[in-house]
Amino acid sequence: MILVVDFGGQYNQLIARRIRDLNIYCEVVPYNKALEEIKKRKDIEGIIFTGGPNSVYEENSPKIEKEIFELKVPILGLCYGMQLMAHTLGGEVINASEREFGKTEIKTEDSKIFEGLEKEEIVWMSHVDRVSKLPEGFEIIAESKNCPVAAMANVEKNLYALQFHPEVNHSVHGKEMLENFATKICGAKKDWTMANYAKEAVKDIKEKVGDGKVLLALSGGVDSSVAAALISKAVGENLTCIFVDHGLMRKNEGDEVEAAFKDSGMHFIRVDAEKRFLDKLAGVTDPESKRKIIGEEFIRVFEEEGEKIKSVDFLAQGTIYPDVIESGLGDSAVIKSHHNVGGLPDFVDFKDIIEPLRMLFKDEVRALGRELGLADYLVDRQPFPGPGLAIRVIGEITKEKLEILRDADKIFRDELEKAKLKDINQYFAVLTNNRTVGVMGDFRTYDYTLALRAVSTTDFMTADFTRIPWEILDKVSNRIVNEVDHINRIVYDITSKPPATIEWE
Ligand code: XMP
Repeated sequence: MILVVDFGGQYNQLIARRIRDLNIYCEVVPYNKALEEIKKRKDIEGIIFTGGPNSVYEENSPKIEKEIFELKVPILGLCYGMQLMAHTLGGEVINASEREFGKTEIKTEDSKIFEGLEKEEIVWMSHVDRVSKLPEGFEIIAESKNCPVAAMANVEKNLYALQFHPEVNHSVHGKEMLENFATKICGAKKDWTMANYAKEAVKDIKEKVGDGKVLLALSGGVDSSVAAALISKAVGENLTCIFVDHGLMRKNEGDEVEAAFKDSGMHFIRVDAEKRFLDKLAGVTDPESKRKIIGEEFIRVFEEEGEKIKSVDFLAQGTIYPDVIESGLGDSAVIKSHHNVGGLPDFVDFKDIIEPLRMLFKDEVRALGRELGLADYLVDRQPFPGPGLAIRVIGEITKEKLEILRDADKIFRDELEKAKLKDINQYFAVLTNNRTVGVMGDFRTYDYTLALRAVSTTDFMTADFTRIPWEILDKVSNRIVNEVDHINRIVYDITSKPPATIEWE
């Protein structure tokens, strides 16, 4: 495995993704835990230092122990990682007068890290400081116009460093450089596959849980569904999944979740709580109040069901790797409050938490789900807010409005799935609280306005509205007004985030 040592660079997760894309296992640790981790583990074949926003001369900039270079594990320093390597080993780093930013041509020397590549390569630079004097034992292996030491190596000690970012797509053969490092310099094997992961995870869960009982709140989202499938494979009926159907799911969704898990060997409980939720929500129009009511009611239902189970030893959660990395990999397990549960149900007296997806990125979770035989519609599911359609029916929620929205939303989603557009990450319909005058046949209508929302985004923190071709919008609009009663006007949301959010409430 390759260990990525994080110095705060914006691409740290991307480096790990790139290595895993090569089917080589990779983890990320913060720089101040790196040495300890390397000494503790026997399986580390190579280390990558990420970039970072600091200068090595700043008083509080992240540093690394010199000892790490003596452990005979190959190291690749990237950007700040390179400067730190040079600085720590007695080289010099200078504050260049200008920032070098963007695509840059480098001239490379013969080196294992550039094997199979061109003499001239296009790479992505983003730095101010640069190495001005090599540490002892190092040689220059690439230069650019503004950066005489664009890459350096101490071949004998297997220390390599690149001033640029091979992990970014703009570095044309960056992936090959990372691959050369991992396979040719570190000797890592490409044997990290989801099939292997599934096997090992099942074995680990069996060992940890033994005959214990596991409880999982299943929302029907990707993470909890995959966690359920995995744990159920390991412990069968010792896993109890509680699926609270709050009646705010999309069309057929509750039944799909039930069909996927009912006969899968686990103890599956579907609680039909639609009436309870709708009663609580009656007359409520404020979005925050809706969210709060749903969160609280959810816990109440979960508690009531949980109390019927005699004893629970483990609480399972679908925490995934980006949450773990972002939380700084603290010593104690970080407990992600499930968006549906809104915190841990404190009535449950359990020994421990199991989080079998803790080491996986989202697309790996999906691949694992496929490996475990989950249907595509579960595995490819888009993010869906815990409060469900309650925040997509604007204003007061009624069963009738939910039905209208479900039917319209299904048509929109079906048509977009057929269209197979690229770069579209989330799409849904919103039933506004606005009614307008229309005409159907010879009659005047006074019905709801439906809004369609589709966004392109990588992180869901910012998003652009998707440029859906007119013909598709036209077809969706025609189908909805013809097939769904009480909608006589449809608008397309053309705001990005910010200033809008993805959801309307
Ligand atoms: P916004 O509307 O904040 O949404 O731009 C960003 C992403 O988060 C999803 N979302 C939620 N997910 N519980 C969740 O688990 C929630 O309460 C919630 N609200 C919004 C939203 O669908 C989008 O993907």
